[in-house]
Amino acid sequence: MGIETSCDETAIGIIEGDKVLANVVSSQIAHTKFGGVVPEIAARNHIKVIVPLTRGALEIAGISIDEIQLISVTRGPGLIGSLLVGLSYAKALAIAMHKPFIAVNHLEGHLHTLHLCCGPLLYPYLVLLVSGGHTQIVLVEKPFQYNTIGQTLDDACGEAFDKVAKLLGLPYPGGPYIEQHAQKGKLGAVDFPVPRPKGLDFSYAGLKTAVLYHTRDNPEYDIDDIAANFQEAALEHLVQVVTAAIHETRVQKIGLAGGVTVNRRLRQKFRALAENMGVKLIMPEAHYCTDNGVMIARAGAERFKKFGPSDLSIDVVARERLEQIT
Ligand code: KG4
Ligand code: ZN
Repeated sequence: MGIETSCDETAIGIIEGDKVLANVVSSQIAHTKFGGVVPEIAARNHIKVIVPLTRGALEIAGISIDEIQLISVTRGPGLIGSLLVGLSYAKALAIAMHKPFIAVNHLEGHLHTLHLCCGPLLYPYLVLLVSGGHTQIVLVEKPFQYNTIGQTLDDACGEAFDKVAKLLGLPYPGGPYIEQHAQKGKLGAVDFPVPRPKGLDFSYAGLKTAVLYHTRDNPEYDIDDIAANFQEAALEHLVQVVTAAIHETRVQKIGLAGGVTVNRRLRQKFRALAENMGVKLIMPEAHYCTDNGVMIARAGAERFKKFGPSDLSIDVVARERLEQIT
């Protein structure tokens, strides 16, 4: 069983090997009116839903709690209050039910959706991880061996979608709303530059500011055109950096992970990239891209097989790079 509470989604996943028995997610809508996640509210909401959600997941899986063989939970990175709810709950469950317990890194969880959904992968491979909190390219050479070869210098890509959406008066989280409006907008109607930082890094601050200036200078702006051209520049940036990463590393497989990779235009652009470059593209289904408990169950199960359980004294971490996992 995987338990995920690092931000505003409470999620429980149950797997048996690579088979998914249950994947339940409760997304908090309480933050919509604030235009972003309020940590205190997030933590309190996790407390409210975590027990009924676990019961629901067990019911969907058609098993009893006694049949669970390992309890895996996210220890970070994420919001401390939210993480503490999941970690404390997982520890209590493990102690009460006499089950082994393991605490895992949220980013490693996202990477595991590739193994889970698309069959066994041949190492090495590259992963583009793009979510509300992270934008990075990871070179995975061997199991548990991660090398972050590029990352954002400022905002994460999903964060830029959310901030631009807020600027346009759209609800939080803004990514899906930007995508909807973008479908009706005209490409080229507004000129937003594709960010070009050095090397394999990303940057979204300049693009976000360009949108801010455009809306300020053109009060009659067309929301669809802004969404379409912002989205195109934001996604083209990802495509250009990944193209450079493939050239540099000569790795032949690229996987997509994280909430932003739900975006249909992103998927279309990466399909084209894979075809043009002759590389294999691994794109998990949308419900495994956003935060979920299945990815935490999978990451926990793999780590447990190799390294055994975590100590019950383990604490949460607000930040932890993939290279820092012990
Ligand atoms: O992976 P995730 O569920 O949570 C984090 O770990 O951050 O990603 C959430 C992010 C949010 O910023 C959200 O706006 C973005 O993913 N997102 C999208 C879309 N759906 C979700 N961004 C662009 N287009 C979408 N369709
Ligand atoms: Zn995430």
